[in-house]
Amino acid sequence: MLKRDDTTLLDETNANPRKLAWRDGLPYSTEFQDVYFSSDNGLLETEYVFLQGNDLPVRWQHPDLTQFTIIETGFGTGLNFLCAAKLWLAHAPEHAILHFISVEKYPLMLNDISVALALWPQLTALSTPLLHQYNALMDQETISLYDNRVQLSVHIGDATERLARITNMADACFLDGFSPAKNPEMWHAGLFCEMAKHAQASTTFATFTSAGDVRRGLIAAGFKVSKRPGFGKKREMLCGEFIGMHNG
Ligand SMILES: C[S@@+](CC[C@H](N)C(=O)[O-])C[C@H]1O[C@@H](n2cnc3c(N)ncnc32)[C@H](O)[C@@H]1O
Repeated sequence: MLKRDDTTLLDETNANPRKLAWRDGLPYSTEFQDVYFSSDNGLLETEYVFLQGNDLPVRWQHPDLTQFTIIETGFGTGLNFLCAAKLWLAHAPEHAILHFISVEKYPLMLNDISVALALWPQLTALSTPLLHQYNALMDQETISLYDNRVQLSVHIGDATERLARITNMADACFLDGFSPAKNPEMWHAGLFCEMAKHAQASTTFATFTSAGDVRRGLIAAGFKVSKRPGFGKKREMLCGEFIGMHNG
């Protein structure tokens, strides 16, 4: 039974907890001076950028699918996870298992993530079990949800450092995180190389940003990169697949 409060929890995991701020009714990071999701509609943004950007609505209808692994940078409020889980439960074969792996340097406290997720009443059926196990997730790194059809792992620490310690291979990558201009410490060549180490022939990626440094870094790491119209006010986004390093 969970009796500890958030402070104890985060002390024990050596995390760097951040108190969530709010701006215009949306979760906001004062440290990065950036939003957790689009003011145009975070849920639709996730569906457009990360789910459609990785072609998941189509890929998850395959009857032979038995498992699928997503690797995400920046768990944040868990909105991307919940949207992915919802799509998975609706489309993937019942016996198949989704493993959603996220790396997060500044995990939110339970109270904050609860308030943030209350913005999405259409996700309550999925967010309630997540919130029940959130402290356990921070303790144990991995929990099972939704009749064991989904496994969620959140590794606390810097994205590049934590990815280097993970052996799982990704079928799809959600490259999230505050914007590269506001969080250059995360978006560097080392991160793209780590992503490539977890990628195989069919691995896809999607990200909300179209920053030139990100595009060039992904190409250098072995990804084929395409531009698509961005969500809401964003002009363009990036998505693509792993094709491996060029020889010579
Ligand atoms: C825009 S938010 C992600 C939103 C999230 N995917 C969601 O569904 O709510 C960016 C996240 O990246 C995390 N982050 C920032 N720098 C990081 C780093 N170097 N390593 C890992 N996570 C980082 C932040 O703490 C924040 O939670």
